[in-house]
Amino acid sequence: MTYAKIISVGSYTPKSILTNYDLERIVETSDEWITERSGIKERRIASKDETSSIMGYKATLKALKRANLEPKDIEFIICATNTPDMPFPATGCLIASLLNIKVPCFDLEAGCPGIIYALEMARGLIESKIYNTILVVSSETLSRYMDWTDRTTCVLFGDGASAFILSRSNEPGIISSYLGGDGSLGDLLKFPSCGSKEPASIYTLKSKSHGVRMQGREVFRYAVSYMADACLKVLEKSKLSSDDIDWLIPHQANIRIIDATAEKLNVPKERVYINIHKYGNTSVASIGIAIDELLDSGLLKRGQNVLIVSFGAGFTWGAMIFKY
Ligand code: ACO
Repeated sequence: MTYAKIISVGSYTPKSILTNYDLERIVETSDEWITERSGIKERRIASKDETSSIMGYKATLKALKRANLEPKDIEFIICATNTPDMPFPATGCLIASLLNIKVPCFDLEAGCPGIIYALEMARGLIESKIYNTILVVSSETLSRYMDWTDRTTCVLFGDGASAFILSRSNEPGIISSYLGGDGSLGDLLKFPSCGSKEPASIYTLKSKSHGVRMQGREVFRYAVSYMADACLKVLEKSKLSSDDIDWLIPHQANIRIIDATAEKLNVPKERVYINIHKYGNTSVASIGIAIDELLDSGLLKRGQNVLIVSFGAGFTWGAMIFKY
């Protein structure tokens, strides 16, 4: 049997930290409100010189080092991002250039679950024996897409990147996945301007449509329901139960969404990885940052079963089980 195996993961987060106390000086909010509603204490903010491609490149270098590989070993790049450096060229192409390799490369935009969508695309290319080794990067510079006067969104998000290297293997790797989507709910979480519908103009600046717009309560409700449902579906497809899962790594959007998902699956707290207090919601990057931390601390070991799950703008959602 041919598997797509995740052979390495790396991540990068900017050095600069923005705490809830710092935010109290920017918008009318409090550390208590943010902590209680989201679990976030601080988030990382990209420096002037850092972009999604640069952070994605740095995460890739760490993943390559962990696997003892070189850029020339990569045959294909998929970059999941909602905050590309620019509309084109694709951030994946910019990363290829930084790595000094000439390979097929493109961006995939699918909200926060973009990482699970990208891993699934890579899996298809590997299992069908078209490519052997694929780099999947997930990188977000959300701080540049925020409306820093909107306290309902700007307190939630942060910047960061992660990178996965997948390779063809005879040993079990990605076991199963489930992807979902419902475009009719797109209005609940969107970046309304600066695309072909409403190009950047004085009007978009004045109307402050240069920023994430979210109906938080509605998003929360759908996220809790779809994340748990995606996990149950992928467990069923894998013929596994939640007892077989060594690590549940949910997208780090909100501690209450994470807790509700774990509770619905009956996974004990010790097997749920949470780092939202340190980074906030880094969208596509959050799951890879969590995996990299688990590897650095030696908590994630070869042969363990990992369940990742995410939900986000689109709406899109997805879950995947892999053996590390
Ligand atoms: N500080 C203080 N008060 C605030 C803040 C803030 N930063 N933001 C909103 N409030 C106020 C509101 O104005 C409201 O006041 P009102 O009652 O006087 O009108 C009150 O707090 C309650 O607001 P709600 O929006 O109802 O608060 P809620 O308990 O729903 O929490 C939150 C808001 C944290 C955004 C929550 O709805 C949530 O987490 N939603 C999901 C968001 C999410 O995860 N999005 C990302 C998923 S997709 C992706 O990752 C891209």
